[in-house]
Parts: sequence; structure tokens; C-alpha cells
Amino acid sequence: MPIPTGKARVAGVLGWPVAHSRSPRLHGFWLDRFGIDGAYIPLPTRPEAFASAVRGLRDAGFAGANVTLPHKEAAFALCDTVEPTASRAGAVNTLVFRDGRIVGSNTDGFGFIADLRAHGIEPAAGPALVLGSGGATRAVAAALQDAGAAVSIAGRNAARAGELAAELGLAAIRWEDREDALADQAILVNATTAGMIGQAPLAIDLSRAPGTLVVADLVYVPLETPLLRQARQAGLRALDGLGMLLHQARPGFRAWFGVDPVVDEALYNFVAADLLPSAS
Ligand SMILES: NC(=O)c1ccc[n+]([C@@H]2O[C@H](COP(=O)([O-])OP(=O)(O)OC[C@H]3O[C@@H](n4cnc5c(N)ncnc54)[C@H](OP(=O)(O)O)[C@@H]3O)[C@@H](O)[C@H]2O)c1
Repeated sequence: MPIPTGKARVAGVLGWPVAHSRSPRLHGFWLDRFGIDGAYIPLPTRPEAFASAVRGLRDAGFAGANVTLPHKEAAFALCDTVEPTASRAGAVNTLVFRDGRIVGSNTDGFGFIADLRAHGIEPAAGPALVLGSGGATRAVAAALQDAGAAVSIAGRNAARAGELAAELGLAAIRWEDREDALADQAILVNATTAGMIGQAPLAIDLSRAPGTLVVADLVYVPLETPLLRQARQAGLRALDGLGMLLHQARPGFRAWFGVDPVVDEALYNFVAADLLPSAS
């Protein structure tokens, strides 16, 4: 990695805790690959210090920062300008300091769609069912809708899922009907936390799913969730959550360091090597 000079561009990731974040490894890989005079560092920030920390980074000449749990909503409230991606998601994961102003965006939806396309899957080609009703469901469902897909949401909490579907103008499917609904879908997305290390697997039977169904899991620890294993065993295409994680980092890197970075196998393998269960 090139040693930063006095002109280095600096960014980082604000979270609490932040030690589990893969972003320093990911951005560090790109800084090294492109020989950029810059640095990207973890910024462990307590919730009560978040606003002063962000203003301090801006005032200290940082180019910007990523924002992870638990600060994504606080970041939304703090920004001078919020881009439409963040308004739609109700949360900010990327900050860019521009002429003293704090500009926020949300790149999760971009990351998901970019990863689909990188695998040759066009989101507008068919209907999509997104499972969940949290922040990731909101970001991914909105992005699929913006990309031209007919999107439905199913969540185990019917009230929460129904509210989200109504807010985004999407169809809601009852949780107990999720398996029957697969017959009409081109893409199934797990945007719940089910299947994460330490969590129960997602309860769904894919045996009656059409052979053309693409199954995408946002979970990336483990890389092969029980859902993806089931999909592969049924002969379906299966996409893990790491691709989305890598692609969602691109807009921030471009804004801070001036290069549109590539997501390729070398990066995937480099970050995947760090996804040990103990690091989750
Ligand atoms: N790959 C990426 O780049 C990326 C980006 C963002 C998020 N993610 C992943 O996406 C997942 C969701 O994140 P989030 O921020 O949306 O979390 P969140 O806001 O906490 O929402 C979690 C959702 O999962 C549901 N859920 C939890 N356990 C379930 C189960 N056993 N069966 C059915 N539903 C269940 C919850 O239902 P209730 O409302 O009923 O509790 C809730 O709707 C996480 O695994 C996260 O790591 C990945």
C-alpha cells in the first residue's frame, strides 16, 4: 500500500462497534490497487458523539465517510443535503463533504442492482419478492422498483410489512403465502436477518419454485446460507450478499478518491477470506 503523503485524501467508517466492518479491508484493497494517495480507517464512534464526530471529520478535511450501525438514521438527520436514494431508504450510509456541506446518500440499493447486473440478471425482466420489513428490505425493494421490476414484500410482521409496502407503493403478500407466491417470481430476495450466523435459517421451502427463479440472500456471514444451499440443491441460481456489499462501496470510493473502482474476483476473494464466523 502506498504510504500517504501530506496531500492524502482520507475517509473512514463510523460505527459502534466498528471492529467487525469489512469496509477498511475493501477500500484498502482498492487504494492499493490504484496506487492512490489516500487512507480509509475505522472510526469507532459512540452514538452520543456521532454528530460532533461527523462535523469534526468535515472540519478536519476528511473527504467523507461510510456510516454503519447504529448511526444510519442519525446521519440522515444530520446531513445538509440528502440525495433521493437516502430519502427513499430513510437512512444514509455514505457521507461526502462538499464545500463545507454534509451530503448523504444510500448506496445499498445501487449495490444490489449492480450485483444482479454483474451476474447478467436484469431486474426489470420479471417480478421480485423481497422478504423482510427492515432497512435492507426498504432499500432493495425501492431499488428494484426504480429499476423497473414489479415488487412485492412479505414480512413475518404483517403490520410492518404492510406499512412499508403501502409507503413504497408495492404489493404486500402474506407471510404464510410466500411459498405459493414463488410461482410468479423471477427473483426472491432474503432481506431478513434469518440465516445469519447465530440466527435460525429462513423458513421457506423452495421445492415448488420455478426452475428460473434467482435466489439472492443479503446475508454474507456465512457466505453460503441455508437458503442459498437449498436453492443450489434445487438447481436454482443463488447470489450471496457479498457482491452487494462490494458494489455498494463503489459510489463512496469514487466520490472520495476520484476513481470508479472495479468489483472483480480478486476483491471478492480478498474480502471473503476475512468472513470468518468469529469476525461476524
Ligand atoms: N449485503 C449487503 O451489502 C447488506 C446491506 C444491508 C443489509 N444486509 C443484511 O440484510 C439483513 C437485514 O438487515 P436490516 O438492516 O434490514 O435489518 P433489520 O432492520 O433489523 O430488519 C430485519 C428484518 O428481518 C426480519 N426477521 C428477523 N428474523 C427473521 C426470521 N427468522 N424470519 C423472518 N423474518 C425475520 C425482521 O422481522 P421483524 O420486523 O418481525 O422483527 C425484520 O423485518 C441483515 O442480515 C444485514 O446484514 C446486507
